Amino acid sequence: MTKLSSSTRPVRILGIESSCDETAAAVVEDNTRILSSVVASQLSTHAKYGGVVPELASREHLRAIVPVVSAALDQAGTGFRDLAAIAVTKGPGLVGSLLVGMTFAKSICLVHGIPLIGVNHIEGHIHAVVLETGPEIAYPALALVVSGGHTHLFEVREGFTYRLLGRTRDDAAGEAFDKVAKLLGYGYPGGPVIDQLAPYGDPRAVHFTLSRMKGNPLDFSFSGLKTAVLRWVQSHHLDAEIATRRKLAGASIQDWLRTTPQATLDLLASFQYTVIEELMRRAVVSAEQIGARSLIVSGGVASNRGLRERASSARLPYPVFFPTPALSTDNAAMIAAAGFPKLQRGEFDSFDLRASANLALA
Ligand code: KG4
Ligand code: ZN
Repeated sequence: MTKLSSSTRPVRILGIESSCDETAAAVVEDNTRILSSVVASQLSTHAKYGGVVPELASREHLRAIVPVVSAALDQAGTGFRDLAAIAVTKGPGLVGSLLVGMTFAKSICLVHGIPLIGVNHIEGHIHAVVLETGPEIAYPALALVVSGGHTHLFEVREGFTYRLLGRTRDDAAGEAFDKVAKLLGYGYPGGPVIDQLAPYGDPRAVHFTLSRMKGNPLDFSFSGLKTAVLRWVQSHHLDAEIATRRKLAGASIQDWLRTTPQATLDLLASFQYTVIEELMRRAVVSAEQIGARSLIVSGGVASNRGLRERASSARLPYPVFFPTPALSTDNAAMIAAAGFPKLQRGEFDSFDLRASANLALA
């Protein structure tokens, strides 16, 4: 991408993200340089409830937004007057949480006369990869966005226009990880725990049937898999081991290993293997369909090591790009990055911009 300004002055965008349980702010310069990226996680607040509690999330965002934005500006050595725009997540997400970031962004823009750019969170996840790999990505690209709230396949064309090819009809992939982990007593979020335990189990030990979708075969469904895991757990009488783990909330991997018998490790490995197969099979078919020249995998589940290994060992005829783990999960650098093409096109938002819980990208 070309530089936005003809002068030598760098172009800086402040990104603000508050769609779920992370309050984040970042300053990105000239499309690709992350000058700062601050993420305040609310994990400890929500962990004891086994999932994100929307009311608590809004309250935590309110507490964190000022210090997080100040820290991002300080670390970047940037003042408001140095900003070309503020990019803020406008949806999808929890409305109360989105409103905190958005109201704050609008206030700064109003006071300092800075242009406002609303960014779709899913587009942000795609731009986490664009930010890091930029010109190496050839278009059209196939983007697999897999997080706690989303499981989508998009065709990404030059200039960042999108076409939705498939999506989950029930749980998102990350949600399936979280629900299975919760069922087995590992607490929230479950993806990272299962990711760490799966290599100790046999992925072929428990056979789960892959889903077949009527209508659009590129759509996903994880509810059948979740039910199959539940049945397996019920028939194996795991109450005692699950109760032991429930007392260890937030434990280390060594504690989880100590309290997880081989049969449960095998179950976890087989579950993760099946989720990865569901994701990769559809990604490969849709990439073929659109004649993709690259595959982008992003969102929290993109930090899964099993998924990364499966994608890189698949010998696909196009390169596969993952964000580094820190940019896979929610952050504001990806939101700032998604703001650059909009800044270039002069696509600014007015102060009427609304937070939208179910905002679609395409
Ligand atoms: O992108 P993200 O931070 O937030 C949303 O936009 O939802 O994704 C969070 C999700 C959670 O469901 C979490 O369990 C999952 O990503 N996740 C993982 C891993 N790290 C985070 N899932 C599988 N393996 C991981 N290593
Ligand atoms: Zn996300």
